[in-house]
Amino acid sequence: MDKSKVPVDQRAALSLLLDDHRALKKLFKQFQDAKDDSQKASIAAETCHQLTVHAQIEEEIFYPSLRGVSDKLDDMLDEANVEHAVAKELIAKIESGDKEMLEAHYTVLSEYVGHHVEEEENELFQAVIKAKVDLTEVAQQMEGRKAELIGQPA
Ligand SMILES: [Fe+2]
Ligand SMILES: [Fe+2]
Repeated sequence: MDKSKVPVDQRAALSLLLDDHRALKKLFKQFQDAKDDSQKASIAAETCHQLTVHAQIEEEIFYPSLRGVSDKLDDMLDEANVEHAVAKELIAKIESGDKEMLEAHYTVLSEYVGHHVEEEENELFQAVIKAKVDLTEVAQQMEGRKAELIGQPA
């Protein structure tokens, strides 16, 4: 999804989320290319932290700001929340520190989140743009909350 093509009312909010998605995809790739277990463990920890912050911003601010816009959007948000819950279970498994299963848990998490991100960008974000939801204030709240959460240790 091209940020420069997003209308100005939605641009800041969607750009923040798109940047997070790019950063996560980069981490997934880094994990695949990692040479040893300690590298993998630290990339996994960073992924869990970033993903938790991202999901929290969506759940606390972004998704609620879209509630009631349309039935179609509400259905998408319900589905997204269920997907977040599944991702959190995988994050909890990774953070529990089971070294034997790290590779398997991380691989499934990256595939699962990859799918979720595609749906957000190709369906949810497109619907938000189409419905012309004004997200300028929402973007400021999201930026403030992100700054707050990113400073906290994982
Ligand atoms: Fe999400
Ligand atoms: Fe997202």
